[in-house]
Amino acid sequence: MKQLDVSAIKDGSVIDHIDSKSTLKVADILNIQNEEQVVLVGMNLTSKFLGKKGIIKIGGKIIDQKEVNKIALIAPDASVNIIKDYEVVKKFKVEVPEIIEGIVKCFNPNCVSNYNNIKAKQHVVNKNPIKLQCHYCERVMSVKDIVLI
Ligand SMILES: Nc1ncnc2c1ncn2[C@@H]1O[C@H](COP(=O)(O)OP(=O)(O)OP(=O)(O)O)[C@@H](O)[C@H]1O
Ligand SMILES: [Mg+2]
Ligand SMILES: [Zn+2]
Repeated sequence: MKQLDVSAIKDGSVIDHIDSKSTLKVADILNIQNEEQVVLVGMNLTSKFLGKKGIIKIGGKIIDQKEVNKIALIAPDASVNIIKDYEVVKKFKVEVPEIIEGIVKCFNPNCVSNYNNIKAKQHVVNKNPIKLQCHYCERVMSVKDIVLI
């Protein structure tokens, strides 16, 4: 099958195996702003594992750990590939940590973590699909409730 040349980047990051519905949310996390970057976003692509997947390729950017942690929350099956000189030089799966701090806002408007100077904190009670329990009010959030700080 023919492929477009535009699908290759020289150096950068490829986030693959994104749950298709979460593709644009992942793009948001990556905060793409640089006017020089080549950015390719694919959605509803056919995947053996996921049925449908999304993929994002960003030229000139190595994604950092905080971004990986955020991506893991909304796309727990995603994998990250670091590209150098057109080759994959590093590949890893995102991983949801046991405890999340300062990343997700508690969805309970009355929660103490939404007041004062208390940093939001949740325990990951299920990784895929994601379930987060607030450390303070103990309410449980699923992916649809997640608002990133
Ligand atoms: N130079 C490049 N520019 C853009 N995307 C690339 C480049 N090289 C690889 N990719 C993409 O990175 C991902 C991983 O590449 P790889 O060659 O490891 O494919 P794969 O064998 O399908 O890997 P996986 O088992 O993770 O699905 C693929 O989505 C591929 O299209
Ligand atoms: Mg593949
Ligand atoms: Zn709470």
